[in-house]
Amino acid sequence: MTHRRLGDSGLAVSTVGLGCNNFGMRIDLDATRAVVDAALDVGITLFDTSDSYGDSEEFLREALGDRRDQVVLATKFGTDLKGANGPDWGARGSRRYIRAAVERSLRRLGTDWIDLYQIHYPDPETPVEETLSALTELVREGKVRYIGCSNFAAWQVVDADWTARRGGLERFVSAQNQYSLLERDAEAELLPACEATGVGVLPYFPLASGMLTGKYRRGDAPPEDGRIAKWGMSHLLSDENFDVVEGLEAYARERGVSLLHVAMGGLAGRPAVASVIAGATTPAQVRANAEAGLWEPTGADLDALDALLAG
Ligand SMILES: NC(=O)c1ccc[n+]([C@@H]2O[C@H](COP(=O)([O-])OP(=O)(O)OC[C@H]3O[C@@H](n4cnc5c(N)ncnc54)[C@H](OP(=O)(O)O)[C@@H]3O)[C@@H](O)[C@H]2O)c1
Repeated sequence: MTHRRLGDSGLAVSTVGLGCNNFGMRIDLDATRAVVDAALDVGITLFDTSDSYGDSEEFLREALGDRRDQVVLATKFGTDLKGANGPDWGARGSRRYIRAAVERSLRRLGTDWIDLYQIHYPDPETPVEETLSALTELVREGKVRYIGCSNFAAWQVVDADWTARRGGLERFVSAQNQYSLLERDAEAELLPACEATGVGVLPYFPLASGMLTGKYRRGDAPPEDGRIAKWGMSHLLSDENFDVVEGLEAYARERGVSLLHVAMGGLAGRPAVASVIAGATTPAQVRANAEAGLWEPTGADLDALDALLAG
């Protein structure tokens, strides 16, 4: 495994991370233990979860056991938990809400500190200055080491960065947004904004929920045990998507690697991307993703990928 700094912070993360939204939602505790063990075996250190992914935080605590200090634990707050953190009136970036949310996550994760605490969605009710100020207090108290944002627009990343620098507050060191070689909206504004501000990008849905793994073929029924069938996501199986997937497969073949290598290593090679947090339901998937993420495209490979994706 290789490691990179998350944005311009001092936090080192594995180039391939593990997305943990399957834990307790798609897979049970035993299967979670197997996936986490496999991740640690291949050197993955970044584990990304949320207080909104069912029992994921508790499952992660159970699966890590006494290995918690070997990993970088990232979680999130700020989705509607239907009152689990008390009444919030939609202001889930407020000082009041953040205090309640962090205590609940620390308890569920069974830890004294969260390495990366991310606001899951922008909060239109609360000035970002208050959110940053409440998170800064958590960092000063040692409950949180670094802070990040998720699903922010590029202007919100820049606004938060400027607000933090102006106010002497902790800065968001990461931005977690949807980004894969199939879903590239982030390239227009978000990636350049993160590059300019020193914010590391953690792409979510990096494998487009499995479309970029090679297990879905045009015209074939999707595997019954895969996410696309289980979660009713058959809209992903469009001809338009298969045009891109098949183009990437041809590109991979020319370089003697697989589609998965291009999806993982190609994404890790994009500007500002720090770690590719792919989800997995089996140890074999974790091992394959970790290996694929280590494919390092040359400059010429990246140019050819740009040309291919530009269509
Ligand atoms: N911030 C946000 O709003 C947000 C939103 C969504 C996700 N996330 C985060 O991002 C992480 C990654 O996203 P994701 O897991 O949802 O999507 P993803 O990485 O695009 O897809 C993961 C799914 O693809 C399949 N898969 C993975 N590796 C495979 C392999 N080598 N071969 C075959 N199939 C494979 C597995 O599903 P099956 O085995 O079921 O087919 C796996 O659950 C999440 O875990 C979560 O931490 C964040």
